[in-house]
Amino acid sequence: MGGFLRKRDANVKIVSCKDCFKFQRCLKYETSNRHRINEDGYWRNCISPIRRCVNAICEKYFSVLNDLKVLEVGCGTVKNVKNEITKNGCKWTGVDKKVTGLATHVCKVERTPFDDCSFDCVIGCETIQYWKDVNAGLTEVRRVLKDDGTAFFTTSIHFCGGLEFQKGDFAVIEKNFEKNGLFVTRSELWRRLYKPLQRYLPEPIRRNLERNGITVDDNLSSCVYFCEVEK
Ligand SMILES: C[S@@+](CC[C@H](N)C(=O)[O-])C[C@H]1O[C@@H](n2cnc3c(N)ncnc32)[C@H](O)[C@@H]1O
Repeated sequence: MGGFLRKRDANVKIVSCKDCFKFQRCLKYETSNRHRINEDGYWRNCISPIRRCVNAICEKYFSVLNDLKVLEVGCGTVKNVKNEITKNGCKWTGVDKKVTGLATHVCKVERTPFDDCSFDCVIGCETIQYWKDVNAGLTEVRRVLKDDGTAFFTTSIHFCGGLEFQKGDFAVIEKNFEKNGLFVTRSELWRRLYKPLQRYLPEPIRRNLERNGITVDDNLSSCVYFCEVEK
């Protein structure tokens, strides 16, 4: 891989697009929807590369969860986590700080109404990067998670949200979990090695990264970090 991977990616497993189980489908999708990329580099009226990675992660890791009590934090309006986990008899509860029509409880992740140790599993997709207080959110996740429970997170990298997520500073991201008593047992980076698919870095995102002091080289592309954590 030459000098392509940065030092800071070293402990995170890279899932390159061509080794992904969805590669052929993504290739076909990107080829037939290329005309939907607008002049800023956003995929309009179709599924963006980041969302396709999140969907693939949900399918790979959440469809095997069986008969568990699952809390989804920052569930928004997208039902894919709920749909994957309820296929196998899991009981889904969803929180979001906004009324979304999907959440069973409207509250911030930093302060939920659940008892200690009440969920086998907590899932947060594309939400942690937007939490105002990541430490308070993770403390709460740990509190509601059973002692033998597992939490899973996905977050986009080199896209938006907190600076550590924009930078892809995995040392800081993983330290945040550890500081709050959650230990990373698996971490992966999807679409970091995107070729032969296309680079994904919309122009307004690139400008914002540079405004925040992040060096954008020719290969830097928005990608998705996935991790599994335990108490
Ligand atoms: C980009 S959306 C992702 C939604 C969904 N998980 C998905 O994968 O499509 C981020 C969501 O996180 C929610 N959110 C952000 N900060 C939150 C917080 N502190 N507590 C609860 N929800 C939060 C937002 O309201 C929003 O619905």
